[in-house]
Amino acid sequence: MMNQISSTLVFISIVILFQCKDTLAQPASAPGPSGPTNITKILEKAGQFTTLMRLMKITQISDQINGQLNNTQNGLSIFAPTDNAFSNLKAGTLNSLTDQQKVQLIQFHIVPSFVSMSQFQTISNPVRTQAGDSSGQFPLNVTTSGNQVNVSTGVDDATVANTIYTDGQLAVYEVDKVLLPLSLFGSPAPASAPAPTSGKDKKNSTAADSPTSGDDAPSDSSDAAPGLRVHGMAAAFGAAIFATFLL
Ligand SMILES: *[C@@H]1O[C@H](CO)[C@@H](O)[C@H](O)[C@H]1NC(C)=O
Ligand SMILES: *[C@@H]1O[C@H](CO)[C@@H](O)[C@H](O)[C@H]1NC(C)=O
Ligand SMILES: *[C@@H]1O[C@H](CO)[C@@H](O)[C@H](O)[C@H]1NC(C)=O
Ligand SMILES: *[C@@H]1O[C@H](CO)[C@@H](O)[C@H](O)[C@H]1NC(C)=O
Ligand SMILES: *[C@@H]1O[C@H](CO)[C@@H](O)[C@H](O)[C@H]1NC(C)=O
Repeated sequence: MMNQISSTLVFISIVILFQCKDTLAQPASAPGPSGPTNITKILEKAGQFTTLMRLMKITQISDQINGQLNNTQNGLSIFAPTDNAFSNLKAGTLNSLTDQQKVQLIQFHIVPSFVSMSQFQTISNPVRTQAGDSSGQFPLNVTTSGNQVNVSTGVDDATVANTIYTDGQLAVYEVDKVLLPLSLFGSPAPASAPAPTSGKDKKNSTAADSPTSGDDAPSDSSDAAPGLRVHGMAAAFGAAIFATFLL
């Protein structure tokens, strides 16, 4: 009886010890050694991208990009339209978009892999963007001629004017037009006109939906949890064996 109680106590304290070790070890690895890549900082430094920065901020895509860069093996490429490109849009273009569509518009400018300037020559079309799901929505076509790279959406064509930033993981290219996705701007009627009357036929999927389309923060925390659980179980298993010897 005493033996059972004491071995149970040993078991419990060993499990607790192992758990504590895990949780205590966690904060130690948290502070990153090198400063993480910050898309806002890159665009800020380049100048002439204040509209893009504002849109990335309100859609929370800048946070998403920074988180993704910290996680991805493939890297990212971003087509960054200048302020001039945004001001050349038809008046009211941005205002006609819902929050969700603004997220899609910005994600349409992001290719979920690092593509160098020379890799554009051999890239296969259509190019998938971050806005697209598995069904292949929101594609871009890239055409090149010599060093010139054009990006076409089916609605408009943009030319890559400049490489703003490249580090082998993230590439940011200045483009002279806002890339307008066919699925948002392809229909003959402007998106703004039918919106007020047909408001109820759309799902009420506003701001709540948009951040979930990114997969940075939530997947981070859910990645960490199973790891801890596995450690905990291994500890419990070890302790059980230990306790068996005591009996
Ligand atoms: C980057 O990732 C590491 C581990 O995956 C994490 O500990 C760290 O908090 C992340 N940093 C940022 C800025 O997201
Ligand atoms: C990124 O840079 C911007 C502008 O310099 C700054 O306001 C922001 O706090 C930075 N974000 C991170 C996560 O460091
Ligand atoms: C890129 O676009 C420019 C301007 O629209 C055009 O003159 C040029 O021929 C295009 N180049 C390619 C490779 O598509
Ligand atoms: C991309 O090119 C393919 C043919 O190569 C064409 O069928 C498709 O419509 C083009 N898409 C866009 C968005 O331009
Ligand atoms: C739709 O969203 C608005 C706020 O964005 C909310 O006030 C309203 O109750 C929602 N309607 C439904 C049917 O969920």
